[in-house]
Amino acid sequence: MLQGKKTSLRPLEETDLEVLQAWYNDQEVNFWANAAWPLSTMFNKDALAERIFQSGEAGAGLKDEYRYAILTDDKKMIGYTGFRQMNIPARSATLFITIGDKAYWSRGYGSDALFTLAQYLFRQWNFYRLQLDTWDGNVRALKAYQKVGFRIEGRLREARYVLGQYRDAVLLGMLQKDFFADHPDLAAGGIPGEQNS
Ligand SMILES: CC(C)(COP(=O)(O)OP(=O)(O)OC[C@H]1O[C@@H](n2cnc3c(N)ncnc32)[C@H](O)[C@@H]1OP(=O)(O)O)[C@@H](O)C(=O)NCCC(=O)NCCS
Repeated sequence: MLQGKKTSLRPLEETDLEVLQAWYNDQEVNFWANAAWPLSTMFNKDALAERIFQSGEAGAGLKDEYRYAILTDDKKMIGYTGFRQMNIPARSATLFITIGDKAYWSRGYGSDALFTLAQYLFRQWNFYRLQLDTWDGNVRALKAYQKVGFRIEGRLREARYVLGQYRDAVLLGMLQKDFFADHPDLAAGGIPGEQNS
């Protein structure tokens, strides 16, 4: 369990599939997450399990991505986050996040979960660069990502098609050295329960 300020992260479990399926098939969640509803992802539970877990069963090993449930303080699952597209020599990965429970949008949960994941990936996995993207109309996502420390690095002009309009994709990145410069207390040490000999 990774503990943030207002969220915690834990690996996905098979019992999460039902709520994940509801979010995957939620028009509004999908619109903001992909800017492309309706999708070809009207997943049933088996298809979703196949997509998330290698053999269709939780615990059987994740596909080329690491995906975690986002929990509130009272252990309610409100979304998921994770990373994929790891580049080992560059020590980089692409993050993703969805707060599927709309009642929790714009209340600081997404940025807290992302910060918690980024901190873990920089400190424990020793990633050098994390990146993610959205489209220019997703102001809430852009604000949340920048609050965490991601910087806008570029735009893919008119790369997304949203309700009859071509819109820019926005690419954001964060480097480990910038993260540690912003949070020197997290740069080294701080091992929970460390004992002096
Ligand atoms: C994007 C997402 C992860 C962000 O998480 P969140 O918990 O809603 O975001 P946060 O509350 O941490 O930060 C959002 C910020 O945007 C602000 N905001 C929200 N809507 C806004 C708008 N229309 N205009 C300007 N600011 C807005 C919020 O007030 C907040 O800023 P503040 O903390 O300074 O007040 C979440 O909203 C989500 O999953 N949305 C649906 C799917 C999606 O968009 N996924 C991302 C695909 S790339």
